[in-house]
Amino acid sequence: MFGLCCKRLQLLLVPSCSTCVTHFDYIQKTLVFSRYHSSKSSVLGSEIDDKPQGQSFTVAYLINSCGLSPRLALSASKKMRVHFESPEKPDSVIKLLKNYGLNETHISQLVKKCPILLIYNADKTLLPKLEFFSSIGLSGTDLARIFRFNANILTLSLDASIRPCYDIMKTLQIPQEKIPYFISNYHLFNAKVLTNVARNIPVLKAHDVPQSSFPLWVPFYFTALAFDSEKVKANVKRVMSMGFLPSSTTFMRALYVISVTDASKWEQKMEFYNKWGWTEHDVLLAFRKNPLFMAFSEKNASPKMEFFLNKMGCQPADLAGRPDILTYSLEKRIIPRCSVIRLLQLKGLIVREDLSIITIVHKNEKWFLERFVIKYQEQVPELLSILQGKKGLAEFGLGFDERGGVKQL
Ligand SMILES: *[C@@H]1O[C@H](CO)[C@@H](O)[C@H](O)[C@H]1NC(C)=O
Repeated sequence: MFGLCCKRLQLLLVPSCSTCVTHFDYIQKTLVFSRYHSSKSSVLGSEIDDKPQGQSFTVAYLINSCGLSPRLALSASKKMRVHFESPEKPDSVIKLLKNYGLNETHISQLVKKCPILLIYNADKTLLPKLEFFSSIGLSGTDLARIFRFNANILTLSLDASIRPCYDIMKTLQIPQEKIPYFISNYHLFNAKVLTNVARNIPVLKAHDVPQSSFPLWVPFYFTALAFDSEKVKANVKRVMSMGFLPSSTTFMRALYVISVTDASKWEQKMEFYNKWGWTEHDVLLAFRKNPLFMAFSEKNASPKMEFFLNKMGCQPADLAGRPDILTYSLEKRIIPRCSVIRLLQLKGLIVREDLSIITIVHKNEKWFLERFVIKYQEQVPELLSILQGKKGLAEFGLGFDERGGVKQL
């Protein structure tokens, strides 16, 4: 009961992430805070009570002015060495962030991830960085979004890191509206990575990869170029040796997949598909059709392979020719469509069909509806509810294994 009441008090105090915490406020908060903790005999509580005044002040400030949990506040003050004895410094940081359009929620989120900012010198260290962001059109919500994903960015040096990265991004002709995304991704907003990308563009050009094939604001093209040039050259050779033409639209995707798939991962994929009866040639065929297929999750692909091969009697090589089929939902698309086909077969309405079941599952919704549902609506009115997944074959006492002497597709 007491704990609950104090929690409420604490909650009331949290939104006061005010820029002018008065001495009175401070005493009041510390009082509430220590009462709250002395009422608990937790390890955490006793740990805090033993600390010298400065640390207690820091912890109380983090909890009351920035909305951190007691545990996080304690860890910030201990492990990250965030330590202050009076509110002036952190208050001035908070005030500055507010001036650049961040609200209390944004500031609280930022401090939770990067509490050290509170002991920075607001005017000397933080102001120039915020001014820079503002000069490139970033403040308020844009800035808050960047901090949400890249909370440490304000700890980077403006002259050694932030500005040079931005300058390289400009030379890479990344459009203005994509820039917040790049800045918010700490893997991409990195001087080494950006320099690599700039150096690797000529490597692609030397192989006649058209510039339109790799818009650099698309993260995976960018990532394919983020490695050192020797590695990128080797990857380009490997992709070409697999039969991709540099002028084709799949070339860069293949380069991306090759860049991020190490030998053991590749081997593991190979084994997975081998188990389902694919030869190495089949895997390469699928990879050439859709390079991103190498990134499909095995857990997700497994039941689909099982269904097509064991229930629908497809040949492994047929599946390899259309790897996209493995991205379709088993419950929403594959099973309903196959159920419609199977029912039509068992009723003798489809005797011969020129298209393979894989092609049928692949075709668009409208085509399927017209050809297999509307056409037979009179004879089998349930087809639509089967296609919509509302009814299953089981309701007709049928299963996929039951071929009923009907010629297989
Ligand atoms: C701060 O702004 C975000 C939107 O960016 C909003 O969701 C949130 O409620 C705001 N918080 C406060 C305390 O105004």
